[in-house]
Amino acid sequence: MTLRVAVLISGRGSNLQALIDACAAENFPAEIVTVLSNVPDVYGLERAGDAGIATDVVDHKAFADREAFEMALQQKLIEADIEFVCLAGFMRILTDGFVARWQGRMINIHPSLLPAFKGLHVHEQALAAGVRFSGCTVHFVIPEMDAGQIITQGVVPVLGDDTPDTLAARILEAEHRCYPAALRLIAEGRVKIEGDGVRISDATAQENILINPDDSP
Ligand code: GRF
Repeated sequence: MTLRVAVLISGRGSNLQALIDACAAENFPAEIVTVLSNVPDVYGLERAGDAGIATDVVDHKAFADREAFEMALQQKLIEADIEFVCLAGFMRILTDGFVARWQGRMINIHPSLLPAFKGLHVHEQALAAGVRFSGCTVHFVIPEMDAGQIITQGVVPVLGDDTPDTLAARILEAEHRCYPAALRLIAEGRVKIEGDGVRISDATAQENILINPDDSP
């Protein structure tokens, strides 16, 4: 039995691609059943189509308010019999009601080492703060934005001549490894939420992801 996953996107979908590739591997314990985008014609939808995955657009602009938009989204998730939701560059804030409905069953990826640098312009924030390392975080979604129990993190160095774009690109490589790793742990039933954190059963050193992006995957 594989975990039935929906991936929610708003754009280019490189993390979606990483999840698609991971799910294609033999014995991966999750399958992407549907990809939903709130923005029409984004590249992520094409990636899903190329992989033979069902897609749908739920355009938030077509709805009177957030609740109506989320009701349509929820409907799609129910229709596809979805058990678990991965947000992958999904650029809409979700209401507490929607988040509550998917509590413990919805994760997100953020391009910083949370709890540092929440919100937007993350790489600018990291460079301005002068940190020597940054990275990405896969976490459960809770009502507070860019918070929630952390599942995996990937760490990359910040280099002296980094711009927000070069740092973002380095972190993106880490993202593409951390997101499938987190989904695998969850789909294997090895992640248990305990208060503000998670306990991962049978954790190995490998799952404490410290990434040197030059390493081969
Ligand atoms: C990623 O950097 C992710 O961490 C953030 O939005 C970006 C999405 O990129 N939440 P992509 O659409 O997966 O390429």
